[in-house]
Amino acid sequence: MQNKRKNILKIAIDSPAAAGAGTLAKAISKHYNLFYLDTGKIYRMIAYLKIKYPKKFNQKFLKKKIKTLNVEELKKKALLSNQVGNEASIISKTKSIRKLVFSFQKNFAYNPPRSYKGSCLDGRDITYNIVPDADLKFFITANLRTRALRRYKELKSLNKRISYIEVLKSIKKRDKSDFTRKISPLKKTKDSLLINTTNLTKKACFLKIKKIIDEKLILNGNL
Ligand code: C5P
Repeated sequence: MQNKRKNILKIAIDSPAAAGAGTLAKAISKHYNLFYLDTGKIYRMIAYLKIKYPKKFNQKFLKKKIKTLNVEELKKKALLSNQVGNEASIISKTKSIRKLVFSFQKNFAYNPPRSYKGSCLDGRDITYNIVPDADLKFFITANLRTRALRRYKELKSLNKRISYIEVLKSIKKRDKSDFTRKISPLKKTKDSLLINTTNLTKKACFLKIKKIIDEKLILNGNL
């Protein structure tokens, strides 16, 4: 990794699929001027490449792709489909793939551009693998049905043809895989704060987390 920037605010978030972590992380990043990365998008990008270029898809091809990966590419709408999400949870179990994206994420977290006050990453292994020394760690969750309904509405708004039951089933399957896989499983670390968003509006979630971050900043003399 290149130089680590000193005195930056690092926020690490882990969460199961569709718990609202992305929306929250984005809002927090904007508010505190943090460089934001939805790490799931990297795995989705790899899954997308596997689906689109099955013949070319190998370690060499991926290495080149990750080396030149730019954050704008991760905003591609095609990455949001259920098929890509399901494939992402399969390819993310491969050690060599996780190894490939490790430094990209580390560098993003520890060396954000100077115009940012720090970084905020969300994913499955951020709190204990990518940013183990984060200033604040959150485990964001919501009950299965709520998450499935949120993801269903999101996919519908993108005009995807999918039923609620299909979404529910795939989230259930992804939970099982993400929580139980051997390599970098999703877990709540002891030092992460649990935020259950089931009965909270986006605004209420944001305010809850903002309060925690402000308290920490005051404690550190940064606010
Ligand atoms: O967050 P999202 O649902 O877009 O992530 C897609 C998949 O990528 C997850 O189900 C998970 O298997 C994988 N992932 C991961 N580690 C991360 C982020 C995502 O294994 N840090």
